[in-house]
Amino acid sequence: MKNLPSIEDLRLLARRRVPRAFYDYADSGSYNEDTYRSNRADLGAIKLRQRVMVDVAARSTETTILGEKVSAPFALAPIGLLGMQHGDGEILSARAALAAGIPYTLSTMSVGSIEDVAEATGQPFWFQLYVIKDRGFIKSLLERAQAARCSALVLTVDLQVLGQRHRDVKNGMTVPPEMKLKNIIDIATKPAWAWSILKGKRKTFGNISGHVKGMENVNSLAVWTNSQFDPALNWKDVEWIKSNWPGKLIIKGIIDPEDAKIAVDVGADAVVVSNHGGRQLDGAPSSISALPTIVDTIGTKTEVMFDGGIRTGADIMRALALGARSCLIGRAYVYGLGAGGQAGVAKAIEILRKELDVTMALCGVSRIADINSQVLAPRHEKELAVAVKQATRHAARDA
Ligand SMILES: Cc1cc2nc3c(=O)[nH]c(=O)nc-3n(C[C@H](O)[C@H](O)[C@H](O)COP(=O)(O)O)c2cc1C
Repeated sequence: MKNLPSIEDLRLLARRRVPRAFYDYADSGSYNEDTYRSNRADLGAIKLRQRVMVDVAARSTETTILGEKVSAPFALAPIGLLGMQHGDGEILSARAALAAGIPYTLSTMSVGSIEDVAEATGQPFWFQLYVIKDRGFIKSLLERAQAARCSALVLTVDLQVLGQRHRDVKNGMTVPPEMKLKNIIDIATKPAWAWSILKGKRKTFGNISGHVKGMENVNSLAVWTNSQFDPALNWKDVEWIKSNWPGKLIIKGIIDPEDAKIAVDVGADAVVVSNHGGRQLDGAPSSISALPTIVDTIGTKTEVMFDGGIRTGADIMRALALGARSCLIGRAYVYGLGAGGQAGVAKAIEILRKELDVTMALCGVSRIADINSQVLAPRHEKELAVAVKQATRHAARDA
């Protein structure tokens, strides 16, 4: 891991180590991938303001997320099928995150189960919920998450139906991988991956297999998702979820200010400005372009988190400068996991934390609480203020 100084290096190594179908599953967006690409492009276009001769000797990236003390302003995002990037992927990622002092979020669609992660870490983590049609099963998932002492529930609201990723269709992505000749040849060239999966505790969806009828016979994730996820899900259901979840509630998948307002009204403790990493509505605005107006709309009432396209510490700085209190890291740590298991995830976290620390120093900032639009290059800040004003005026006019 030593000679891998950036997330991009982890990505390149993961591409060599992880079978094609699972690498592509992570490194792709829906349909034309326009939103997937714009998440990165729009972040990269934001210029930071270099400041010199400021005393930044006593810096810290420590802060809090929903009252939890964290070593850096980010958590690991929920990632479905993480255990297919590396055997026991959920357990290893959770261990790396908790050891680094940041929260880990376990996906409903994980390979390792809630109990696996709880047993392996002995510490609270966050649980992400997809609402499927069988509410009895959802209730039991929430009970299991409480029994595991999960400290927050991340309710994902942008996946009632699944956006298609063309590469998954072409690769015939199945879990566990289908033993077709093409896959066998690919896996044969990835012995470290194959060994990790063989040694891993589970080979299929730990949280849902055995609980949802028909799952064992359905190979295709897309078919299963489209048949089980609830397209009728709406804001009224949040009330029911809250009545079954006494802890903190984070609503993830908000891109529109009107939806952000409703999320606050239904009692979210935090919202995540997110377009699912460009995996759902292709053509949706990039997450970073949606962030300022949402912060403007609800920022004083609710913690605003951000995800989508973060690959460097400077990207985290950009999101905080535009009003996010904290971020979720997605593919950046998935690549770390594929590249080197737990050490790879730890490396990804450390790369991002260190890059953020140096970026803060070069912008003349010592504390996370001091990051605001003042760290943006003036030209950019002016353009942005105009854009936000315009968007707010339009929102008011349309209301
Ligand atoms: C491979 C993969 C699987 C994902 N699975 C889930 C999931 O199960 N639940 C969820 O809420 N979001 C899921 N997401 C979205 C992430 O939580 C996060 O919003 C997104 O990855 C952020 O974008 P980034 O990867 O560019 O950082 C997934 C993303 C990827 C790349």
